[in-house]
Amino acid sequence: MRPHVVVNVAVSADGKLSTFERRQVKISGQADFRRVDRLKADMDAIMVGIGTVLADDPSLTVKDPALIRAREASGRGPHPTRVIVDSNGRCPLDAAVLHRGPGRRVIGVSKACPIERRTALEEFATVIVAGDEQVDLPRLFDELGSLGIERLMVEGGGTLIGALFERGLVDEVYVYVGNIIIGGETAPTLADGPGRSADLPFVRLKLVSMQPCEEGVLLHWRVEKEGEQALT
Ligand SMILES: NC(=O)c1ccc[n+]([C@@H]2O[C@H](COP(=O)([O-])OP(=O)(O)OC[C@H]3O[C@@H](n4cnc5c(N)ncnc54)[C@H](OP(=O)(O)O)[C@@H]3O)[C@@H](O)[C@H]2O)c1
Repeated sequence: MRPHVVVNVAVSADGKLSTFERRQVKISGQADFRRVDRLKADMDAIMVGIGTVLADDPSLTVKDPALIRAREASGRGPHPTRVIVDSNGRCPLDAAVLHRGPGRRVIGVSKACPIERRTALEEFATVIVAGDEQVDLPRLFDELGSLGIERLMVEGGGTLIGALFERGLVDEVYVYVGNIIIGGETAPTLADGPGRSADLPFVRLKLVSMQPCEEGVLLHWRVEKEGEQALT
């Protein structure tokens, strides 16, 4: 079975994930950081696209020692499985996500990934081949399900999240909207990629909650499933 997928991002008041140079920006504060850490600790896996690995070099680990202890006490590893979506195996071998903190790593590649890159990455991670040119996301998610991953959080970036929405793979969305304007027409947003034509139905969300947090607001949405709108 495919995992339940929760997208979590922070955007500026004008909807950007980072700058036009794809440089990481501090959008939220300590309170939201702790919320994200708790959410992470509740997950079986955390996923990012290779664009985020190359731009931010995240470790995707749980930070609070108390949350790590609670995971261990319940028989889980200290950190969720870390998953990278990387068609061509571009992930640097010294990337923090491959080294920081113990635990399983999975890299989803496509058949276009050169065999020598695949072999090199296999030293640090389980490599799953899905798709011809780009990673076939539904197939990758089926494989993650068969590895026992039931709850998966996607931390970005916009290209990966846009593709997941297009394929109907997102169940919930948390968006922290911070009090800065980043600007720039090429700066990444929550859902990038080609986007959807007005001739097609849009992905619709149901608001679960809306909470002021520090100088911004946290929005929690649930993704409406096909046919649900016709029933309401
Ligand atoms: N504010 C936040 O909460 C937050 C969170 C995370 C990231 N960010 C920011 O987001 C930016 C990175 O976002 P990004 O859009 O450049 O990169 P991304 O979404 O992290 O990764 C995109 C890459 O994933 C790979 N990919 C493989 N299969 C795919 C598929 N089926 N569909 C779509 N992509 C696929 C593609 O590269 P290949 O074809 O080479 O595989 C694609 O270029 C950075 O600036 C980072 O700082 C912000």
